[in-house]
Amino acid sequence: MNPTRPNLAGWVRSSNNVTQQFLSLGGRPDVVSLAGGLPGSEFYPVDAVRSATGRALDRWGAQALEYGPVEGFPALRASIAKRIAAANDAPVGIDNVLLTAGAMQGLDLLGKTLIDPGDLIVAQFPTYLGALDAWRPRNPSYAKLDWQLDRPGLDDVLSDAKFVYAVPNFSNPTGVLVPTEHRKALLSKVHAAGTWLVEDDPYLPLQIDGSAGPSILALDAASRLGNVYDGPVVYLGTLSKSIAPGFRVGWVVAEPRLIETLALAKQSTDLSSSMFAQAVALELIESDIEATHVPMMVRHYRERRDALCASAARHLSEWFSWDVPPGGMFVWLRATNPAIDTNQLYTFALEEKVAFVPSSVFDPAGELRDAMRLNFTRSTPDMLDEGIRRLARAVRRYLASSAPDRGTC
Ligand SMILES: Cc1ncc(COP(=O)(O)O)c(C=O)c1O
Repeated sequence: MNPTRPNLAGWVRSSNNVTQQFLSLGGRPDVVSLAGGLPGSEFYPVDAVRSATGRALDRWGAQALEYGPVEGFPALRASIAKRIAAANDAPVGIDNVLLTAGAMQGLDLLGKTLIDPGDLIVAQFPTYLGALDAWRPRNPSYAKLDWQLDRPGLDDVLSDAKFVYAVPNFSNPTGVLVPTEHRKALLSKVHAAGTWLVEDDPYLPLQIDGSAGPSILALDAASRLGNVYDGPVVYLGTLSKSIAPGFRVGWVVAEPRLIETLALAKQSTDLSSSMFAQAVALELIESDIEATHVPMMVRHYRERRDALCASAARHLSEWFSWDVPPGGMFVWLRATNPAIDTNQLYTFALEEKVAFVPSSVFDPAGELRDAMRLNFTRSTPDMLDEGIRRLARAVRRYLASSAPDRGTC
């Protein structure tokens, strides 16, 4: 007889394993996966990492294999503080920085630290799926930030919000680059409302056409005196897109009291991030590998983005429209045919052995059904073209089917 065990926590019922599904599709050779949010793995700097590992062990010895301070390996913390200070012309010191296991852990710790059940988050819409996942156990509610900042009532909504969440550079999922004027306007509303603004910036290095905008952190720092940042912006960064996601090295930059509280939350999550990964990452940063590595990678990403968009223009423009993203990793296709529900299309796409991410998972309410996210960084131009051809076949079959309600993904 099976013993009766306690039920799982309530939030699990409203959760899903969409991210795991999409990551696992990447391992199926018969499927062209345009779904994952992964860099091109052939560009990971394996040789540079090998020699950086040797240098890190020579330099730090057993210290690189220890538990570390919960705030992060001090030498890397100082190096990231210097880099953020220089890039943003901001008074960012070591006390403003918490090193995390990727930006994802920063999102999780912010949830742990800031969100009580029912708290309101004003999130850029559509919203990064990982952030929704990270915060689901805290049971927040959401309001949409669509950058129409003169919308009546927005100021009241912001006053009620625990924080605002935005990905202004080449957003996930839309690839949108938020104009500087919108960033400034949002910042002044955040000041007026007395709330926090979480600026998630993983795609900063992937500038394909021209440059990214000034960070909201930089815009805020410009009006501050003093040598420690003490404003309302909480800035997240990562090495996942500029070097490799396997490092799991990211950072949160915020005012020192929030950093202390986030460190308290991190202590009960993992005691400390991997000292080994942080020591190797420090060697890579000090060797300035990104200065050559990132431009090489971006050249390939430009070719891939253009290949995907050209193929979409040939095969999908009858049913979808899109903007060519100026950077990042994704193209966001919006259905121009109102009969298309991308949750339903997904089933037909998998039958054709191509995967994408339907828009519903980027909506806290799950209601956005007319768009999809396609990744262009992981596949070669030929694979992208093949994936788009398969997608076009799936759309044709889907629209021809008399019973479109085939469930959801
Ligand atoms: C907007 C956004 N934030 C955070 C992350 C997490 O990045 P990391 O690999 O640093 O955890 C991603 C990853 O794709 C992302 O798209």
